[in-house]
Amino acid sequence: MRIPDTIATQFEHPRGLLGHMTGWIMAHRTSNKDRNRWTVDLLDIQPTDHVLELGCGPGLALQSCLSHATEGLVVGLDHSETMLAQAAARNRHAIKDKRLELWLGSLRELSGSADQYDKIYSVNVVQFLEDLQAVFSVFHHHLKPGGMVATTYMPRGQNPSKAKAWQMADEVTRHMVRTGFTQIRTEELALKPIPAICVLGTRS
Ligand SMILES: C[S@@+](CC[C@H](N)C(=O)[O-])C[C@H]1O[C@@H](n2cnc3c(N)ncnc32)[C@H](O)[C@@H]1O
Repeated sequence: MRIPDTIATQFEHPRGLLGHMTGWIMAHRTSNKDRNRWTVDLLDIQPTDHVLELGCGPGLALQSCLSHATEGLVVGLDHSETMLAQAAARNRHAIKDKRLELWLGSLRELSGSADQYDKIYSVNVVQFLEDLQAVFSVFHHHLKPGGMVATTYMPRGQNPSKAKAWQMADEVTRHMVRTGFTQIRTEELALKPIPAICVLGTRS
């Protein structure tokens, strides 16, 4: 299915009615569901883990995290009120049980002390972020020693290609190395029409 350009631009910051439609597409597209579930599986989330997702969108991966982190805390951060409303509706029981917090904003507003999270991840957000070095420094600061970061990306829009996915993997790897992450590896998930990549690293 080819998505019209008016909707495609909404993926970076969904707003209003079109934003709601964009969220609906994200929540129902098979490839999106698969790469969100896959990312959470790669992180091997434990029952007591504290987990942060940057750009949680309609909250699919949050839902998967919550099924693993049954005694922990999951935080979804997104600069779109429209997306947070969908993520809240999808995961309202976890909010009521105080296992899920949804925060409006971007990494700049990320509060809290250092060494807070066991896992931090994003799914198809990295392409919108301007200063990746600063992003991975913030992740490093907020992760506990031994904590893991995961960055998943599947090129969308016009002319997506496997080469673009691997270019991003190389760029992310470079920034993770510079930030001091170790045990860096890239995984690939076979999806149509092209694969998704996930770069994982550990804070030593
Ligand atoms: C393509 S959507 C992906 C949503 C979700 N991760 C998924 O895979 O279903 C990108 C999401 O990242 C959010 N986003 C983009 N840039 C952001 C930023 N700098 N800070 C916070 N959220 C951001 C958007 O609002 C949107 O919800």
